Amino acid sequence: MTTKITSSAEAMHLEDKYGAHNYHPIPVVISKGKGVKVWDVEGKEYYDFLSAYSAVNQGHCHPKIVEALVDQASKLTLTSRAFYNDILGGYEKYITDYFGYDKVLPMNTGVEGGETAIKLCRKWAYQVKGVEENKATILFANGNFWGRTLAAVSSSDDPESYGEYGPFMPGFQLIPYNSLEALEKALQNSNVAGFMVEPIQGEAGVKVPDEGYLKGAYELCKKHNVLFIADEVQTGIGRTGKLLACDYEGVKPDILILGKALSGGVLPVSAVLARDEIMMTIKPGQHGSTYGGNPLASKVAMVALQVLKDEKMTENALKLGEVFRDRMNDLIQKCELVKLVRGKGLLNAIVINDSEESSTAWDICVALKENGLLAKPTHGNIIRFAPPLVITEKELHECCDIIEKTILAFKK
Ligand SMILES: Cc1ncc(COP(=O)(O)O)c(C=O)c1O
Repeated sequence: MTTKITSSAEAMHLEDKYGAHNYHPIPVVISKGKGVKVWDVEGKEYYDFLSAYSAVNQGHCHPKIVEALVDQASKLTLTSRAFYNDILGGYEKYITDYFGYDKVLPMNTGVEGGETAIKLCRKWAYQVKGVEENKATILFANGNFWGRTLAAVSSSDDPESYGEYGPFMPGFQLIPYNSLEALEKALQNSNVAGFMVEPIQGEAGVKVPDEGYLKGAYELCKKHNVLFIADEVQTGIGRTGKLLACDYEGVKPDILILGKALSGGVLPVSAVLARDEIMMTIKPGQHGSTYGGNPLASKVAMVALQVLKDEKMTENALKLGEVFRDRMNDLIQKCELVKLVRGKGLLNAIVINDSEESSTAWDICVALKENGLLAKPTHGNIIRFAPPLVITEKELHECCDIIEKTILAFKK
């Protein structure tokens, strides 16, 4: 028999007792979501300012996405790629047209997208660029985050991520983020096959590079015959006020990784897009996933991308991002506790004027929760604010009022 949860305390107790302790959630138990709002077990309402780390860009339980999910789930959910299914091809055409690529390789989670991109890049290095086998190097930026697999933590410079998980994947090199000089230096090595980078580093604390960095990095990659791989798992799909954050600088990545909001938050769907020269280096049997490209995910992803466009969510993110940062800059004038606000579109963060080790940002998030808004610190003293892109201007002002009231009343 399954356990029926009757209180938040009970749900938290069960997770604590029977689940691995690999997360430290804000103490709230969500049992319902709709649009920008979620409700806890006791029925208290909150604004969601995390959007499941930008997976729920289209809002919780978007009716058209849920309808597609339910409709497809009652017909066909999974065939594996041992057989064709009648949805995948249409989805592949749809998503490649949508983003302007020759081909897509469908996966499930964001980190699998990253793994796929690296495998493609290595194959390309050996088959097309002519790097000696097993000598390819992939460059990553300090502060990157692309998931939790061994390859992902092998490229991490965060001891929390990689500590005690060695030995690590060879052929990876870290360079400073936002430094074209460092990139140019690393590119002197002719074995470099690719540079994998987030256009804005989300988990590192919404770090926005200088204007011109992405374009400069792309051009340097071109000059040295190196693939520019954009990890837009968090920044993509409208979040930053453009369809892709790379669009701000007119950069078209050689390999594009998408995930999270590709399904609007209803099931894990990721995708890697590239031109034929790169994609065709992987042959049948050389990569895959049982669930990747399943008809349920394919159907949901098409609708999730379509509603983003139809409901002009990207445009809304662009406009309301300005409103949000203006409001936070006003707040900064009124208090010492907030040092700065940064971000693009509706991917923003405030930096709290306290040490990274202090619990202030966490305590503020707990106070925000009490006042009806859910957010979570990233890296100690930084709080990310990323509501679903369906938020209205009126709701956004209400949320800024909550943030302002909470921070002005906050006592360490
Ligand atoms: C930029 C980026 N890439 C990849 C990932 C990994 O995605 P997933 O957790 O779905 O594996 C994340 C997750 O936060 C991310 O922020």
